[in-house]
Amino acid sequence: MRRVVLAGRGDLAEWRDAARALAAAGILPEEIDWREKSPEADLSFQRDAMPPAPAATRRPMTVPPVFVELAETVLCHSDPVRFSLLYRLLWRLQLDRQLLEVASDEDVVRARLMAKNVRRDAHKMTAFVRFKETGAAAAGRRKFIAWFEPDHHIVRRTAPFFQRRFTDMDWLIATPKGSAAWDGERLTIKDEPCEKPNLSDVTDELWRTYYASIFNPARLKVKAMQAEMPKKYWKNLPEADLIPGLIASAESKVREMAAREATQSLPFHDRLQQAARHLPTEAAAPAGTLDALRAEAAICTRCPLHANATQTVFGEGPPDAQVMFVGEQPGDQEDIAGRPFVGPAGRLLDQVIAEAGIDRSKLYITNAVKHFKYEPRGKRRIHQKPNMGEVKHCRWWLNLEMQLVKPKLIVAMGATALAALTDAKQRLQDIRGQAMAMEGGRTLFVTVHPSYLLRIPDERLKAEEFARFRDDMLNIQQLMTAIG
Ligand code: URA
Repeated sequence: MRRVVLAGRGDLAEWRDAARALAAAGILPEEIDWREKSPEADLSFQRDAMPPAPAATRRPMTVPPVFVELAETVLCHSDPVRFSLLYRLLWRLQLDRQLLEVASDEDVVRARLMAKNVRRDAHKMTAFVRFKETGAAAAGRRKFIAWFEPDHHIVRRTAPFFQRRFTDMDWLIATPKGSAAWDGERLTIKDEPCEKPNLSDVTDELWRTYYASIFNPARLKVKAMQAEMPKKYWKNLPEADLIPGLIASAESKVREMAAREATQSLPFHDRLQQAARHLPTEAAAPAGTLDALRAEAAICTRCPLHANATQTVFGEGPPDAQVMFVGEQPGDQEDIAGRPFVGPAGRLLDQVIAEAGIDRSKLYITNAVKHFKYEPRGKRRIHQKPNMGEVKHCRWWLNLEMQLVKPKLIVAMGATALAALTDAKQRLQDIRGQAMAMEGGRTLFVTVHPSYLLRIPDERLKAEEFARFRDDMLNIQQLMTAIG
């Protein structure tokens, strides 16, 4: 039996040189007793500890690149069997080049598992190293030190990560398995085990206070937390001794939070309460009038859209208007003004109806949905199309408006208005520009929504669509003349 002693600090070249020489001399895996030098021993032994190079008797062995990659990682593992395992795989690969693809092979399984443990350990190191400032370094650079206890020989592997991440400070990461240091120019890796430095300072208290205040008991998932931060890493984290207490009190904290929540009103609640307080106990407007309906709609909570809107934007116009125009929903400006069609789409509509000879003051103008639906994006509120559920909830108000105003002609502007006014599943473009009979002896005229015209990017198409919209308004004007 031949004894081979290696330093084994995750150094591929060290093992590769030994394995090459042994394989070239035809030394079989079972003839070698691989040993790892104890960490305390003088590491300068490396070269002397190699057996005298056996005479080469065979052609050099070759391996697929994937083996080199695997070996590089496995050699970082702290299990002493790693040397013999890799040497056996090296021999077996000469007979079977596809061996590493055999997922059930015992040696392959073991090597892959060891590689996985190494990668996991390296990942934990990148996550749990906590630097402490130790004073100023040369050229005004700041100087930091950290202590970490890895399971495997991963200092060399992970050092480039810290070099990239903390390039503008000087740092030293000390571990029982060697150290890595960066001074802005050179990365120095040493294999000698380090002593644990005393790193506690005032920033620990600061960090602990911060950690305790951002800890959210309602989000606590102990299993996931322990999987991500196994207990063995805790002892070097300043916040670690807080964690058991925070976990133990999490349940009661969540209950407290829930109790507090219940007494805090939602942002829109005050607005509704205020509106309700101003509602006269006796309706100011006689029941069954448009004004009474408007007052009721002002505190509507039939669907969630009321929660984020500034106010209900109800229809406006003469209570006995012959013609009712129905849009989709108030936009940003309408939401603030509390009136329909006063923003860009409204200005366009005003212009086109005026050109067609229609007097806006004679129209009752309303929307299918009475609250502004939007998505906040920075300081802007981006229009969101109401869904069918919201349209159906709001139909309640639209139907009551129609019952009270009793228009003879109703103009649906856009698909949402059409959907709110009729259950028929006709496509807007199929019925656009036609006067159709509605129940109750009314006439329905369908056209596009003016916002559609504002969004057309192509100038030629835009001009065509404007012309069609003008024609629609001229037709409506004629229908208005016909109904008197
Ligand atoms: N778009 C609508 O559908 N209605 C408005 O009130 C404003 C823009």
